Amino acid sequence: MARALSGITPSGKLTLGNYLGAMKLFVKMQEMYEMYIFVSNLHSLTLEQEPLSRKKNTKDLVAFYLASGLDINKTTIFLQSDVLMHAQLGWIMQCHTYMGELARMTQFKDKSTKHSDNINVGLFTYPPLMVADILLYDPVYVPVGEDQRQHVELTRDLALRFNNKYGETFVVPELLLTKNGAKIMSLADPTKKMSKSDDAGDKGCIYLLDDAKTITKKIKSATTDSIGKVNFDEEQQPGISNLLTIYAAIEDISIKEAEELFKDYNYADFKERVAQVVVQELSALQASYHDIIKNDDVEKALNNGKEQASKIAYKKLMKVHKKIGLGI
Ligand code: TYM
Repeated sequence: MARALSGITPSGKLTLGNYLGAMKLFVKMQEMYEMYIFVSNLHSLTLEQEPLSRKKNTKDLVAFYLASGLDINKTTIFLQSDVLMHAQLGWIMQCHTYMGELARMTQFKDKSTKHSDNINVGLFTYPPLMVADILLYDPVYVPVGEDQRQHVELTRDLALRFNNKYGETFVVPELLLTKNGAKIMSLADPTKKMSKSDDAGDKGCIYLLDDAKTITKKIKSATTDSIGKVNFDEEQQPGISNLLTIYAAIEDISIKEAEELFKDYNYADFKERVAQVVVQELSALQASYHDIIKNDDVEKALNNGKEQASKIAYKKLMKVHKKIGLGI
C-alpha cells in the first residue's frame, strides 16, 4: 500500500479550517493509503506558547485525530518530538536549502509580520524541518490545505536535489488537496484564511470545541455582500462563497450542487442552514472527543505510533548518513 503523511501544529485551538482542509481528508485516505499522521509539536516552538497550553493543545489534537475517525490499525499517529530523527534530518535539509528559498516563503513573511516581537530563527528554518518530516517516510502524497503548498513544493525540490546529488534516496511526494475546503476563509474577513494562531476568540474563526450557540452566532454574523443571491464567486462574493465551500465540504457534495441547492434562498435562511450542518458535524465530533479524552486512548495511540514511526525514520536517516558520508 502506498504511503501518505501529514501533520498539524499544536499552536492553538483547532479550527473548522483544519478539520475540513486536512483532518477529514486524512480519514478518507486511511482506507486507501498507509497513513502517517503526526503532531508537529517542534514546529509549534516557533510561536510563543505556555508549556501547559502546548501540552493541552497536543493532547487535544491527538484526541481530535481519533474522534474524527482515524483508526490506529490503519493510521500511525505520533508526536514529532517522539521521533528524534526529524530534528536530525531537519538539520541536514537546512544545509541543502538556500537562504533565498526560505526568504520567499509566504508563511514566513506572514508570521514574521504578525509576530514581529518574536522573529526567531526557527520561524525562518521551519520549512526544511517540514521537508524532513515528509522525506523520512517516503510518502507518495502529502494531504494538506492550500496554505502548505509552498512547503510541499520545497520538499519536492529538495528531494530531487538530494537524489541528484547523492543518488536515489527519497520518494518525491505530491501535494494532495481536498476537493472542497482546501482554503476555508475567516467568517469576519473572507479575504483572509481562517487560522488557529490568530487571536483567540476571533469571531471569524470556528473552533472545533465551540458550542452550538457560538457557532450559529458566528455564522449568522459572517460578512457577506449586498448582491443578495447565493452564488459562488470568490471575487465579488467571498463571504457567500466561503459559506458554500463549508457546506459542500461538510455534506461532501460539489460547490455546483451546493449552489443549486441554495439558489432561491435569502442570506439569512442560507446561513441558518449552513449553521445547522456545521453544528451537527461538530457536535458529533465533540461527543467523541470528550469520550476519548476521558480514557487512555491518546496515550495508547502515541505509544504505538512512536515505535512504528521511529523504525521507519531511523532506517531512512541511516541511509542518508551513509549517502552523505557521516560516520566511517
Ligand atoms: P497547520 O497546523 O497550520 O495546519 C494543519 C492543516 O490544516 C490546514 N489548514 C487549512 N485548510 C483549509 N482552510 C484553512 N483555513 C486552513 N488552515 C489550516 C493546513 O493546510 C494543514 O494541512 N506546517 C504544517 C504542519 C506540518 C506538516 C508537516 C504538514 C509540519 N510538518 C509535514 C504536512 C507534512 C502546519 O503548521 O499546518
